[in-house]
Amino acid sequence: MSRDVIAPSILAADFAKLGEEVQRVENEVEMLHIDVMDGHFVPNISLGLPVIESLRAVTSLKFDCHLMMTNPEAYFDPLKAVGADLATVHIEVFPNPQGVARKAKAAGLEFGLAINPPTPYAAIDSFIELCDLVLIMSVHPGFGGQTFIDEVLSKVELTRKKVDSLGLSTDIEIDGGIGPENIRRAKDAGANVFVAGSSVFRADDPVAAVTAMRNAVEA
Ligand code: DX5
Ligand code: ZN
Repeated sequence: MSRDVIAPSILAADFAKLGEEVQRVENEVEMLHIDVMDGHFVPNISLGLPVIESLRAVTSLKFDCHLMMTNPEAYFDPLKAVGADLATVHIEVFPNPQGVARKAKAAGLEFGLAINPPTPYAAIDSFIELCDLVLIMSVHPGFGGQTFIDEVLSKVELTRKKVDSLGLSTDIEIDGGIGPENIRRAKDAGANVFVAGSSVFRADDPVAAVTAMRNAVEA
């Protein structure tokens, strides 16, 4: 079984002091979740290469780049160059993701595949072996601060079954509406990577918020 990973999503941070916000939690977490939105796949724009590059200079955390984009492939080499470690693309954009997975790996990136709430598990079932990480969206992508959609936990369970039956160590990430109150349920369904934006960076004490999630997940 893979280790538990808490990955704060910087989308909820104060972008005017992003470096400080990240450094505040850096020793408490294993990875940083970076949402890149193109204003096309999702109705929002967030941040891009220059921000990732600036962050790389202030932290050695693993960079988990969630690419909510219709043409992420064009950016694999530039993402690697600015310090990204993992690139996650959407199954809704790449229904047959073999080619895009190969390109991400050729660029030196780990490969992740994300699935939106309405998309059935069957869409990703044949592609689990391509993935270093499978991201189950627990909100509709595009915005932070939304309410966790319980129904997606059945997809986490199915993904966990598949990963274990294949004897893989693929990470299973849950993203959206995660906090101390529901992180344990996500773990029990089979997730081992927990993205948390608002519940960390909008908390009065982000370190205490991470600790509360860590305690809940390890209890
Ligand atoms: C939504 C993003 C999420 C978001 C999570 O499109 O993919 O990563 O930042 O934010 P919270 O934890 O606030 O739901
Ligand atoms: Zn995300």
